[in-house]
Amino acid sequence: MKKDKWSSETGFILAAAGSAVGLGNIWKFPYIAGQNGGAVFIIMYFILLLLLGVPVLLSEMAIGRKTGKNPIDACRALHRKCGFIGGFGILGAFVILSYYCIIGGWIIKYLLMYMTGGVKDNSAALFERFTTGFSPVIYGIIFTLLCTLIVIKGISGGIEKISRLFMPALFVMMIVLIIKSLSLKGGGEGVKFFLLPDFTAIESAGDFLNILVSAMGQVFFSLSLGMGTLITYGAYLDRKTSLKKAAFYISLIDFVIAVLAGLMVLPAVFAYDIVPQAGSGMVFIAMPQVFAGLTGGNLFGIIFFLLVLFAAVTSAISLFEVLISFLIERFKLKRLASSVICSAAVTAVSVPVALSFGSLSNIRIMGMDLFEFMNFLSDKLLMPLGALGISVLCGYLWGTEEVSEEAGLKKSWDKKLYRSIIRYAAPVMIAVIFITSFIGL
Ligand code: PHE
Repeated sequence: MKKDKWSSETGFILAAAGSAVGLGNIWKFPYIAGQNGGAVFIIMYFILLLLLGVPVLLSEMAIGRKTGKNPIDACRALHRKCGFIGGFGILGAFVILSYYCIIGGWIIKYLLMYMTGGVKDNSAALFERFTTGFSPVIYGIIFTLLCTLIVIKGISGGIEKISRLFMPALFVMMIVLIIKSLSLKGGGEGVKFFLLPDFTAIESAGDFLNILVSAMGQVFFSLSLGMGTLITYGAYLDRKTSLKKAAFYISLIDFVIAVLAGLMVLPAVFAYDIVPQAGSGMVFIAMPQVFAGLTGGNLFGIIFFLLVLFAAVTSAISLFEVLISFLIERFKLKRLASSVICSAAVTAVSVPVALSFGSLSNIRIMGMDLFEFMNFLSDKLLMPLGALGISVLCGYLWGTEEVSEEAGLKKSWDKKLYRSIIRYAAPVMIAVIFITSFIGL
């Protein structure tokens, strides 16, 4: 069977950027940046993105393109004992999907609420009532079906087409909301919280290490590293595309959208005197309060939730594709069958995760409810292990010369930098994230 391919370089870059730009940019980045010293964090994040993110991104795409296979077979093709590295990715993609689809479902619910009259109630009580009930299961399934319909259509006809449409639309919607947000009285405080360098955040070496670790974790999550998504997307890439250029653009788009998200969300949150918070609280509790106080708030609510939905869909489909390409290649299944199996499996696990806020909240694993546990598994365990595996595979086993050649690194300076990062800096930094997140547990 001939493998489907991206129809153009731009299509690939937009799809990969679509995978990268997700909930991590919109609800995590603005808050983490604000809390960790504002501009100081943003500069540190940018440097780490270039020094750590880009090389790992390059490595994953190179593994994918060189082998043209799913993550497990790709890693095994490069070293016969390394299939398990891709296995972390496949397992990780499944785990992330089990909760990403539930949040996707919440977004659909809120979008529909804004399309049919808006949120007038106390937003915190409404969120609590909704998430502890049964309906998130239904909305989660709707989100999963939406993603399945896209991935069934394949790479160029499904994922690429949707990314070409959603990514520019997301950007335009963001600009509209930023203009509105910045024009609000009192919004300047939000910009200050986000952008003003606050050196008091780094008074000791311990503070510095904390900020560094949060920035590194955010780089990995935000660029979708360690989860096999870029190996999978890279496998559909032709030889003409320069991986170096692609890695640069993907990281740049991801960074710009994260900064724009801060400018969109924080001024609005501050203008309404709402305490900024990360996670679901911001998207589903703080933003509805903002929209309730705005003239034309419902329209802005629709734009906002549509934008978040687009970001979530383009990330979720990249995770689905990791699983689907694995089933297609390993079990010689048709795309349709493989997509149906994957969405059924994800649904089976996401139902208890959806209910872990309400009827199943008493189920605890290591003191965490199911939702927290799935988050822990993906972010703290599988993602760092996957990324560490990738750097060891490329740095020591496959060999940095080969990767440089595949990635189009020609200058000796580029090659040397890549070699020292992937062999030494990346594994050390990932190990530090790993250790601190366990100690801080
Ligand atoms: N990068 C996505 C985000 O920022 C999340 C993600 C992680 C998607 C890993 C795919 C793989 O939300």
